[in-house]
Amino acid sequence: MLLLAAAFLVAFELLLYMVSPLISPKPLALPGAHVVVTGGSSGIGKCIAIECYKQGAFITLVARNEDKLLQAKKEIEKHSINDKQVVLCISVDVSQDYNQVENVIKQAQEKLGPVDMLVNCAGMSVAGKFEDLEVSTFERLMNLNYLGSVYPSRAVITTMKERRVGRIVFVSSQAGQLGLFGFTAYSSSKFALRGLAEALQMEVKPYNVYVTVAYPPDTDTPGFAEENKTKPLETRLISETTSICKPEQVAKQIVKDAIQGNFNSSVGSDGYMLSSLTCGMAPVTSITEGLQQVVTMGLFRTIALFYLGSFDSIIRRCMMQKARSETADKTA
Ligand SMILES: NC(=O)c1ccc[n+]([C@@H]2O[C@H](COP(=O)([O-])OP(=O)(O)OC[C@H]3O[C@@H](n4cnc5c(N)ncnc54)[C@H](OP(=O)(O)O)[C@@H]3O)[C@@H](O)[C@H]2O)c1
Ligand SMILES: *[C@@H]1O[C@H](CO)[C@@H](O)[C@H](O)[C@H]1NC(C)=O
Ligand SMILES: *[C@@H]1O[C@H](CO)[C@@H](O)[C@H](O)[C@H]1NC(C)=O
Repeated sequence: MLLLAAAFLVAFELLLYMVSPLISPKPLALPGAHVVVTGGSSGIGKCIAIECYKQGAFITLVARNEDKLLQAKKEIEKHSINDKQVVLCISVDVSQDYNQVENVIKQAQEKLGPVDMLVNCAGMSVAGKFEDLEVSTFERLMNLNYLGSVYPSRAVITTMKERRVGRIVFVSSQAGQLGLFGFTAYSSSKFALRGLAEALQMEVKPYNVYVTVAYPPDTDTPGFAEENKTKPLETRLISETTSICKPEQVAKQIVKDAIQGNFNSSVGSDGYMLSSLTCGMAPVTSITEGLQQVVTMGLFRTIALFYLGSFDSIIRRCMMQKARSETADKTA
């Protein structure tokens, strides 16, 4: 009898142990909250700012170009839901100097109060074959996409932990879940965010601070149009196997996941598949999420093999085409 009771107790403990990481965090209330969006003057960042503003948040936009910042501020202010709301603009390069970033975050906190949510969205992409990319491009992308997310996060984390409130969002990319032709510089800078986010989440969870990594697909923004100009043919053909998303849709999903404290945020069926495939040892925030990952892993890996095969054949076709046009050039 005693043995049975003990066995029950052990089983119960084990169950608690397994379920405890699955307890969902309390959603963050956006009305009146202070949301800082780096890269908030354009594209996905601007749409995230609008989405938060529509839900009653106070916004700080961080980017370099002052004209673009003011333009975005005007656009965002059209969506106000009460006359207390403020959009603050701060011009700074997030990738250069930590002290500078810390100072502007302090200024923003003096004006609009402690930061409740930080969205690290400033970033850029340059595509090209490994040997064609300048070495300085690797440095620039790592500085902006990785360190440009470390600096603002480092500047807000202490206050968030003290207040036991906070959300930090890292905007990675689907190219931060798998490496693709042409993205040796970009993918690595976006993969880095995942490592940062996993380690940070483990540190700050006991303080009720939650981290979200977003993996947007190709999204119709000024930044995407810029990147498109640098893509090798292979990269363009591979990215054309999926459709292009609206920044409003991506922003909506990111804000929703950040409020809920979900570790992953993705859009569309490709996004769903990639997130399940690459979940690794990432934290889970609900039982259904964990179960979905366990159940879908094998199936998605099988589908992924077909994708990889089709990418290989695109690359082979491009090589053959180039070889043919070269011999045609020689004979002409
Ligand atoms: N669009 C896509 O297809 C796609 C897909 C996956 C992931 N993403 C990621 O999503 C994020 C936003 O992309 P997007 O396409 O919306 O970009 P975007 O339209 O080019 O906007 C980039 C924003 O970042 C700011 N910024 C750039 N460099 C900065 C710096 N050094 N310091 C401070 N601010 C800086 C820009 O303003 P200033 O130039 O004035 O500084 C602008 O506000 C990026 O991290 C990108 O890698 C985009
Ligand atoms: C990308 O650039 C190519 C030309 O290099 C063009 O044909 C295509 O329409 C562009 N796509 C987008 C979405 O801008
Ligand atoms: C990732 O997040 C999306 C919503 O952004 C959700 O639909 C999906 O189930 C999540 N995937 C995993 C593997 O957690």
